Amino acid sequence: MTNFLKSFFKNKSRFYFNISFIYLLNKTVKYIIDRQVNYQDILTKKLQKYFTDPNMFFFNHGRGGFYFLLKHFKNKSKKKVLINSLTLFEMVNMIIYAGYDPVFVDNKKNSFETNTVHLIDKFSEELSFVVVTHLNGINKEIFDIKDKIEQINKTRDKNNRIYLIEDVAVGLGAKFNDVYTGSIGDFSILSFNIMKNITSLTGGALIDNHKVLKIDKFAENKLRVSFFDIVKKISFVSLLQFLNSRLIFPFFFVFIRFAQKNNFNFFLRKYRTDFETYTLNKIPPDFTKNLSNFQMYLLIDQVEEIDEKNKLRINNSLNYYDRLKNNDKLIFPQTNFNHENIFLEFPIICKEKKYKDYILQKSLNNYVDIKNYYYKNCESEKSYKIYKVSSSINSKYISENIIMLPNNINYCRSDFERIINLFD
Ligand SMILES: Cc1ncc(COP(=O)(O)O)c(C=O)c1O
Repeated sequence: MTNFLKSFFKNKSRFYFNISFIYLLNKTVKYIIDRQVNYQDILTKKLQKYFTDPNMFFFNHGRGGFYFLLKHFKNKSKKKVLINSLTLFEMVNMIIYAGYDPVFVDNKKNSFETNTVHLIDKFSEELSFVVVTHLNGINKEIFDIKDKIEQINKTRDKNNRIYLIEDVAVGLGAKFNDVYTGSIGDFSILSFNIMKNITSLTGGALIDNHKVLKIDKFAENKLRVSFFDIVKKISFVSLLQFLNSRLIFPFFFVFIRFAQKNNFNFFLRKYRTDFETYTLNKIPPDFTKNLSNFQMYLLIDQVEEIDEKNKLRINNSLNYYDRLKNNDKLIFPQTNFNHENIFLEFPIICKEKKYKDYILQKSLNNYVDIKNYYYKNCESEKSYKIYKVSSSINSKYISENIIMLPNNINYCRSDFERIINLFD
């Protein structure tokens, strides 16, 4: 009984929210006092550190920026967009909503790097965009991809060139040879949703590295997040924070555990982002709204903390690695514990799916909060069947066998121990 109670009450949520309820309250009051300032320029300047003087456009969701970018070039006759098969399925939906066809790119074996260049050759005649997803660190294939695209663009006129887009939603701050992710391609997409190191509740940015988009045209026809939207967002995030708080979470987990064990899908659909893939007829209007001035204000102070937070997470990940590296049932896709990688969570791949299922089951039984991976191998999803033109066996293997170990900055030593002990 005492063991049960210990496990029960030691259970801490895996989620780390970069802004607390108190921070939100404090910022709201300050904003009301001096809100005449337009915070876009200040935020743009702060983010410059990661780029070389681009234009930045801020959206209610990063994916909205991606959609707008694709739509902006809607007259392109070439309809294909290369994108990592292992990604947030909503990014694939944006391609479809914008009127293009996704072509899925496989990962390298047991790696977050991709295998794109041969597909650029194969589809070059029909290709408009190549999306490079930086999954948890810099996807170093980008340098070869960039060379390849430059070669092809030399033979094309300006209206027909291929654009390189970086998805930096989970890779902001990673760099290789002093070049930051997001500054290499023509455009990049950032995300500021509530799970990121820098958050405006929801939010994201489109970075235009070579200033090719016309600012006026871009601001056209776009709604801004309203006061009512913000109240809704704050209420939702506050509820999430309450359920994941130190005192409430152990009880909330009982509910999660019950739902997982009994396939209580109605609840899981709401709670788990990885639940199922779907495509609507068109993009929900909320995604493409402009970020509000208040949300930009929320972001400003957080920019300076990005690198520090990344470092803390690198140290935690190194600890995981040191403790688990002798487990021969595991593979470690990221073993550079430096500026090349971002560890919002620490990824491990179980050689056999059976072992992954065993660990996840054990975590439920022992009251340890570990989640399933929320990216799908999109190519194998039913919704995208009609776009299947190649095969992503490595992405499939990763998506089926991966576990992301929590990297909550508020965890103490004993919290990490509880997770590591699952692998005994
Ligand atoms: C890889 C990846 N790309 C894009 C996005 C989209 O970001 P947003 O939620 O801001 O639309 C996410 C969100 O988590 C992501 O993980």
